[in-house]
Amino acid sequence: MNYVHTGETKPHTSVRKGAGMQLDRRGFIAGLGGATVVAGMADEAKADALERHLMAQTAPAASGTGGTSAAASAGAAGAAKFPTVADLQAEIETRPTRKGVGNLFASANGNVKRLQPLPEKPTLADYFRLRFTATSNHCLQSANRAMQNGMPEEIILACLLHDTVLELMHVDHGWWSAQMYEPYVSEKVAFAIRYHQALRFYEDKAHGYEYPDLYRRMFGVDYKPEPYIERTYQMVRNHKWYLEPRLVTVNDLYAFEPGVHPQYEQFTDIVGRHFKQPKEGLGFDNSASAHMWRSISTPDHPL
Ligand SMILES: [Fe+2]
Ligand SMILES: [Fe+2]
Repeated sequence: MNYVHTGETKPHTSVRKGAGMQLDRRGFIAGLGGATVVAGMADEAKADALERHLMAQTAPAASGTGGTSAAASAGAAGAAKFPTVADLQAEIETRPTRKGVGNLFASANGNVKRLQPLPEKPTLADYFRLRFTATSNHCLQSANRAMQNGMPEEIILACLLHDTVLELMHVDHGWWSAQMYEPYVSEKVAFAIRYHQALRFYEDKAHGYEYPDLYRRMFGVDYKPEPYIERTYQMVRNHKWYLEPRLVTVNDLYAFEPGVHPQYEQFTDIVGRHFKQPKEGLGFDNSASAHMWRSISTPDHPL
């Protein structure tokens, strides 16, 4: 299959150097109490604070997208220095929650907030509006980019959905996300979502994908993907659908654009054509992943 990838823009670069980032940086420093306070912070604390600040700006009420916002943060901080795997391991016991926890289940800033209930028969649009608050702008930007680049509708849908499961779980989010969406999308869309996670570790400059600074910072500058990721990459690289997840990574990496807030309604028709909305509502149709939707719907249930 032949996809048009224009490679026309490289927002990753412009994000680092553009005027928008200067504004972000000023807001960040002011929010932390000024330049003097920031100067006294450890590098890692500074980087963490900047990442949270950028995510909050790109996603209303955001606490993490697992995507490009943080890639921009590394650039914005001029972070020439990335942690090692050992540095990151040493941080584990400095936090009350683990890095892999889903956005809805922990607050990066103060206590969690009470959630508005979903309608009785919730749709994908309802989840975007009321539960995907930390991930929706990143995913909408990614889908918007895919649309601008003339991607097929299934790629646009995969981009729209690809990181939303981060509300539930960060660890192995490609697999979790594909599993959650599998009953409702084509095999090809689920394939694209599942494997974008592994492909992000491997460059493909011919299609416009370079290894992101985000991963040097998140996983360590000396990180080598685990064997299951490497095996997955080799399998996908030789698969007839390789381009599906690859194009998610291409549009994912370039998705962070300060001030760009595409609306869900832009994709309503594509969702209507390619997403099988269950009449009982997501969470109540007895599908293999209904419990995942319910967990996102009611994360305050103790059991
Ligand atoms: Fe992403
Ligand atoms: Fe992702």
